Parts: sequence; structure tokens; C-alpha cells
Amino acid sequence: MNPIRRVAVLGCGLMGSGIAEVSAKAGYETHVREINDALAERGRKAIEKSLGRAVEKGKLDPAARDRTLANIHMTTRLEDLGDADLIIEAVTEDLEIKNEMFRTLDGICPSATIFASNTSSLTIAEMAAATNRPDRFVGLHFFNPVPVMKLVEVVRSIATSQQSFQRAMEFARSIDKQPVEARDSSGFIVNRLLVPYMLDAIRGLEQGLASIEDIDRSMTLGTGYPMGPFTLCDFVGIDTLYFISEIMFEEFRETRFAPPPLLKRMVTMGYHGRKTKKGFYDYTGEQPVAMELAI
Ligand code: 3HC
Repeated sequence: MNPIRRVAVLGCGLMGSGIAEVSAKAGYETHVREINDALAERGRKAIEKSLGRAVEKGKLDPAARDRTLANIHMTTRLEDLGDADLIIEAVTEDLEIKNEMFRTLDGICPSATIFASNTSSLTIAEMAAATNRPDRFVGLHFFNPVPVMKLVEVVRSIATSQQSFQRAMEFARSIDKQPVEARDSSGFIVNRLLVPYMLDAIRGLEQGLASIEDIDRSMTLGTGYPMGPFTLCDFVGIDTLYFISEIMFEEFRETRFAPPPLLKRMVTMGYHGRKTKKGFYDYTGEQPVAMELAI
């Protein structure tokens, strides 16, 4: 069994850039693929910014930052990922887009390469079945912000081999994360619990339970959560939450996973949370201010 030396990350957005950062920081040669040069450049800048912040805070020395950056190789070509021992996909939550990439890589990579997906809500089986290596296909589900959150859910589909699963667990430990084993059920462990919680907060708001700020304040001050549910929705992305809930509702057909109408309206309106500067809060000023939503 070859040790994992080279890692490839597909997508360098919020999650992909974090995954690339922790992989490169742990010493892996990390190739990161984006679809065009502009997005590759933006992703690289995000990694530099995150590492720069760690240096400023005294958590990382400048030499380690430089070593990490030297381990990161940006590309726009899937063909450049052919020698990776592990490929971690972190692109948009669209099965067809993911599977098209996996099918191409299946023809490029050696049979020993392990494929992994950072999907939040799709099942690993849906992607593994599109390749000729379902036994070498796992889920590696990271949490935002990736450099900070210690958890990785390591997911085994009904076809994943014990060996591939163990290698994925070892990889997660080697990048200083704490892996947990999860079965291939939409949303795995965390989103199974977290998504209905966020959706319930939105339903509470729709029903006039309390204001955005008071619901958030209740959960931070009353239960010690680091963020209230609306701050968390904006942090995760309103559009992302909507996609996840649609997929989970489709899977389980349980109303607790169904997206509330307000969530859908916000997606339509382009209120996607922090990334668009508007969500449940408005982020255009110095401090976030709760949005005035006519509900
Ligand atoms: N990258 C790197 N480091 C970051 C960071 C980032 N994007 N954001 C914050 N940090 C670091 C800070 O440098 C700081 O480090 P220090 O304590 O060593 O100085 C530490 O995290 C705390 O940051 P701050 O003091 O700036 O702010 P907070 O104390 O408010 O913490 C937080 C920020 C860590 C994001 C905290 O609010 C939190 O844990 N929030 C909950 C996050 C959460 O629930 N994530 C999971 C979302 S669900 C998901 O990802 C699954 C997906 O499938 C949807």
C-alpha cells in the first residue's frame, strides 16, 4: 500500500481553499484545480490571507507559511492531477458537475488513487457509482472554517473497502483533524442535526417567534453556541443551505428537512449570506445589522 504523498483538491472556494491549506501545511504536495485562472488566483489569495492571519496571530511561523505555500500548485487542468494519491472534491453541490470530473479523473489516475468528496448532502454512492473504483471512494467532510474546525467525517459507502476507509482515516489524522466514522446517509452526522436546527430557526422567524437578533442571542447566551442560527446560516451560505435541505428532503421525505419558503425567497433575491454581504444580516457596514425582511 503506497503512502499518500500527493493530494489533489478540486475547487478552491471556501471549503477547497481550506482543505488545500491544511493538506499543504501537513507537508503534502497539494495540487488544486479551479476552472479558470481568475478563480485559481482568487483561491490562492484566500489561502495566502488565511496563512498570513495565522502568522500575524503568532500561530504559524513565517518559514512554515512559506513551506505551505510552496506545497500548493494551482492548475486549471484535470490532466495535471494524474499522479495524486488522493483526490478530494470540493466543488459546487451539483451531482452532474462532480460526476463529470470523477469520470474524467477515473481515466487519468492510476487504479490506486483514492477519490473523496467533501459533499455536504449528496451520498457517496451516487458519485462512486459513476466511476470504476467504488471500493476506493470515500467521503471526507470538512467544516467551515476548515483551518479551525477539528472534525472530519470519514464516510464509507456500501462499496468502500476497509483499506480505503482506513487510509482516509489516517489521512485525516495526519492533517491534524479528528476523524469520525459516518455511514453514507445524506447529511452524515453533523448536517443531519444542524440543518433541521437552522431550518427551524427560519420557521420560527416566519411564525413571529422572535427577532433575528433575539433568536441568535438566545442560542449563544442560553446554550453557549459560538454563533446563533442566523449568523450560522449566513456563514454557511443561504444558497448552500437551500441546496443541502432540498437534497436531504428528497432523500428522507421528512418535512424537517424541507426548505421554508423564506429561505427560498432569500436565495431568489440573491441574499446568500456573508459572501454577498446580505443574508439574515447586512454586512455592508462596520458591524452586521439584522435585515428588515417583510415576512
Ligand atoms: N480561517 C482561519 N482561521 C480562522 C478563520 C478562518 N476563516 N475564522 C476564524 N479563525 C480563527 C481565528 O484566527 C481565531 O484563532 P485564535 O483563537 O487562535 O486567535 C479563532 O478562529 C477564533 O476566531 P475569532 O476570534 O475571529 O472569532 P470567533 O471566536 O467568533 O470564532 C469561529 C469564529 C471559529 C468561526 C466560531 O464562531 C465558530 O466556531 N462558529 C461556528 C462554526 C460552525 O458551526 N461551523 C460549521 C458549519 S457547518 C459546515 O461547515 C458543514 C457544511 O457541510 C455546511
